[in-house]
Amino acid sequence: MSIATRDLTRAFARPRSGLGPQRLLAGPKLGSGESWDEHCARLDGPISDRLRRVPPDRLIEAVRRSGLRGRGGGGFPAGDKLLAARRHGSGAVVVGNGSETEPAAAKDEVLLRLRPHLVLDGLEVAARALGARGAFLVAPSPAAWDSVTEALAERADRHVPVQLIEGPRNFVGGEETAVIRWIEGGPALPRFQPPRVVDRGWRGLPTVVQNVETLAHLGLIARLGPEWFAAVGTEAEPGTMLITLSGAVERPGVYEVAIGLELTKLLGAAGPDPKAVALLVGGYFGSWLRAPQIPGARLSRAGLAPLAASPGAGVMHLLPPGSCGLRESHRVVDWLAQQGARQCGPCAHGLPALAEAMGRLAGHRGQASEAGAQLRRWSDQIEGRGACRHPDGAVNLVRSTLAAFGDEIELHERGGCSGTRLSNLPLPPWELRPA
Ligand SMILES: Cc1cc2nc3c(=O)[nH]c(=O)nc-3n(C[C@H](O)[C@H](O)[C@H](O)COP(=O)(O)O)c2cc1C
Ligand code: SF4
Repeated sequence: MSIATRDLTRAFARPRSGLGPQRLLAGPKLGSGESWDEHCARLDGPISDRLRRVPPDRLIEAVRRSGLRGRGGGGFPAGDKLLAARRHGSGAVVVGNGSETEPAAAKDEVLLRLRPHLVLDGLEVAARALGARGAFLVAPSPAAWDSVTEALAERADRHVPVQLIEGPRNFVGGEETAVIRWIEGGPALPRFQPPRVVDRGWRGLPTVVQNVETLAHLGLIARLGPEWFAAVGTEAEPGTMLITLSGAVERPGVYEVAIGLELTKLLGAAGPDPKAVALLVGGYFGSWLRAPQIPGARLSRAGLAPLAASPGAGVMHLLPPGSCGLRESHRVVDWLAQQGARQCGPCAHGLPALAEAMGRLAGHRGQASEAGAQLRRWSDQIEGRGACRHPDGAVNLVRSTLAAFGDEIELHERGGCSGTRLSNLPLPPWELRPA
C-alpha cells in the first residue's frame, strides 16, 4: 500500500524574514532533512540527556506553563492532555499524528522531512512524561516515511520504541479516534467518544494523540523551557505555528510565523495577487475572508474570532481572480460529504443534503436565495450532532460561504456568475480504504 504524494508547490519550506523567529524551521538548510549530528550540535546534545535530569511531573508542568496548544486544528492545551493521561498512572501510549489528511495542507510533511529529530524529541518527551510503553508515529507520505526511518536509525539511545505507520488517506482518517483504529489494524474511521482516548485509547490504554507539530514544540520546550517558548506569540496563544499557504501567491509553501502576526505580513511575504477574490483561512473546515477583512486581522484564534474564523491547522488558500467562491465552496463541501464516514445521521444525510443545496447555490438557474435559506436551516439542524467534528467543520465552511459571498449569491440569483475558471483548491480522488 503506498502513501499518496503531495503537491510539491506547497510541500516545501519558505525561508523568510519579518515574520518572527524561526524555531521549528531554524537551522542551516531548508533543502533537506537535518541529520542527528546537526540536530545535536544545534540544540546542545541529545534530548535523552535532558530527560534523564527532569522528573515526569516537572515535564508536564513545564508544558502546561508554556501555554502550548495543539497544532492539529482543535487547539487543545497540550499540557492538560498529558496530565489527563498521566492521572491513570504510567503506561500510556503516545501517538504522533502526522496523518495530514487535508489536501491543502503540507506542514506536517515538511516538518517530518526537514526536521524529523524535533518530532522524535517531542515523542520522547511525551513518552517520558507519561511513562509510556511505546509510541507510534503516523507518516503522511513516502518522503516523510523515508526521512523518519533514517532519523530513527540514527538515534541510538531511544527512550521508547517508536513504530512508524503509513497514514490513512481518507479525510476523517486523521481524526484521533480514527487514527487509533487505523494503527490497531482497523478502518480509519472515527469511533464514538466517550470514553476519551486519554482514558481508553489504543487497545484500551490511556493514549495521547498529538499532532507532529505540537510534538516538535514539546521537544523544544523540554530543552529551552516554558518562558523561552512563551516569549513569542501572544499571551494567550504563545509560540510560532506552521502555515501552508497556496493559491494566488508567487511563493506558495510552508511558512513558520509568530502567532498573532498580521495576515497582511504573511501574505506580503508570499507575493499575493492583488486581485485575489478571497482568502480561505483554517482549511476545509475554515472560513472565507474577503479583501476588506484582511488588513488588521491577526493570525491567532482570538485575532480571527471577530471574523468568525480560526487558524485551525494553519491551512490557507488565496482564491485567484476569476474564481467563483460559490463554485469553489461547492466543490469542497461535495468532497467533504463524500469523505464522511456515514456512521451518524449528520454525516449520512446532512452532508449530502448540504452538498446538493451548495450545488444549487453555485448553479446559474436563479435558485441561489432558496438554496441559501435551506443551507442556513439545515446547518442549524446538523451542527453539534455528529460523533466527531466532521459535520460541524463542513457546516462552518457553508456558513462562511453564505456570509462572505453575498454579492456572488445575488449575481447567481439573476442567472450570472463571476467565475471564469476553476481554482487550484486541491481535491484528490482519495477513496476510503477497505477495513
Ligand atoms: C475530520 C477530522 C480530521 C482530522 N485530521 C487531522 C489530521 O490529519 N492531523 C491531525 O494532527 N489532527 C487531525 N484532526 C484532529 C485530531 O482529531 C486531534 O485533535 C489532533 O491530532 C490532536 O493533536 P493536537 O492536540 O496536537 O492538535 C482531525 C479532526 C477531525 C475532526
Ligand atoms: S460525524 Fe461522520 S465522520 Fe464523524 S463519527 Fe459520525 S459518521 Fe463518522
